[in-house]
Amino acid sequence: MELSGKTAVLTGASGGIGTALARALAGAGVELILAGRDATRLAALRRELGERHRVAVADLATGAGRAAVIKACTALPHGLDLLINNAGVGAFGLFEDAEAADLERLLAINLTAPVLLTHALLPLLRRAPEAAVVNVGSAFGALGHPGFTAYCASKFGLRGFTEALARELADGKIRVLYLAPRATATAMNDSRVEALNTALGHAVDPPEAVADGLLRLLRGRRRRLGLGRPEALFARLNALVPGALDAGLARQLPLIRRFARS
Ligand SMILES: NC(=O)c1ccc[n+]([C@@H]2O[C@H](COP(=O)([O-])OP(=O)(O)OC[C@H]3O[C@@H](n4cnc5c(N)ncnc54)[C@H](OP(=O)(O)O)[C@@H]3O)[C@@H](O)[C@H]2O)c1
Repeated sequence: MELSGKTAVLTGASGGIGTALARALAGAGVELILAGRDATRLAALRRELGERHRVAVADLATGAGRAAVIKACTALPHGLDLLINNAGVGAFGLFEDAEAADLERLLAINLTAPVLLTHALLPLLRRAPEAAVVNVGSAFGALGHPGFTAYCASKFGLRGFTEALARELADGKIRVLYLAPRATATAMNDSRVEALNTALGHAVDPPEAVADGLLRLLRGRRRRLGLGRPEALFARLNALVPGALDAGLARQLPLIRRFARS
């Protein structure tokens, strides 16, 4: 897809990965609606990228917030070409320790919001000569990892949604794409997650690596892109022989439990 001249709505634009995605897309000539909750950060990003971009301040966990983003897209003078569902929250901890309300909120932001935004915006995307929906998943959308149970559930769901919708729309002009970053240096990962990644030897990417991946995905022909070779290999192994990783992860349980409750 040629990106110059396209219009996109990007959720989670105020976050670590979202800001890098916004910079890369704006640099490629895409006009953006920068969506998030943090009005100050979004305004600063808009000042940096240029006044032709717009801001939509909205809490995607609520119907009113999602309606505000949909309204901003509907008001675009030249229509909408790209929906990038990037907003998300992490939750490191033991599943049994989580509050039910936090689990509900995580699923609302990471899974319900992308599904409902996509559903509401498809009619608008259909009017574009070529369009794309990109769902930002995770390496943990293909590999269930202790300590991230609800997060994994949300990203497995998002991957399944992306795959099914891509196949449902395969003979049309809307591409439905899945981008799966591995651990990335953003505020999503608190000091416990950083310490766990170091202890487990997990590589951590800069957000700009995810932005490179997004541009490659949009410009290329493939439908899904997982970042990081070992992570992609583990995802494949887990899909082919799910039991192969059980013993290794079980050995890491004491460490994961210790960090989760630290
Ligand atoms: N960081 C990683 O290691 C990693 C790895 C794989 C995948 N990912 C995925 O990458 C995406 C971006 O994460 P990140 O690392 O950039 O995290 P981040 O820096 O914490 O940013 C999260 C973004 O999501 C937005 N958001 C959170 N709750 C929201 C809500 N209720 N309504 C609207 N927006 C909301 C935040 O907006 P406000 O700040 O304005 O509230 C922020 O812009 C997520 O989908 C995440 O699952 C991250």
